Amino acid sequence: MAVRPILTVPNAVLKQVSRPVEAVDDALRVLMDDMLETMYAAPGIGLAAIQVGEPVRVIVMDLAREGEEPAPRHFVNPEILWVSEETAPYEEGCLSVPEIFDEVERPAQVRLRYQNYQGETIEEEAEGLYAVCIQHEMDHLNGVLFIDHLSRLKRDRAVAKVKKQTAAA
Ligand code: NI
Repeated sequence: MAVRPILTVPNAVLKQVSRPVEAVDDALRVLMDDMLETMYAAPGIGLAAIQVGEPVRVIVMDLAREGEEPAPRHFVNPEILWVSEETAPYEEGCLSVPEIFDEVERPAQVRLRYQNYQGETIEEEAEGLYAVCIQHEMDHLNGVLFIDHLSRLKRDRAVAKVKKQTAAA
């Protein structure tokens, strides 16, 4: 496994639409292992493949709290099948927009279908932090960042701040 560099805004690669994965094979599992290691090292709770420069529809996530056993999850070709009318706000952050946090309103529950690490098809409902995280990560697969849900002023300010930070690093 290897930690890969995480792309940050305004890198144009982050705006790309990722392509579907054809098969869950060993090469894809290497990518998913690397993504999890990269996410844990950051640290973060979710990561989309495009954030390490791979334009494929793959997400990793771990919502275990500090002190709990790690609970890695893998999502290949995830699709949202249903969203609730009820929405909920959550203060989101993103490893590609470091140190910026702001509230985004999204459907409170979703039903999704995806393939897991073994390539099995899973259908399940998500709510709470899981619902927030899967919608945030699936946005990445379509080239959308959480700051794209904010006002233009807030978005421009966030990108300028990250640019300044990364130039100083
Ligand atoms: Ni993100």
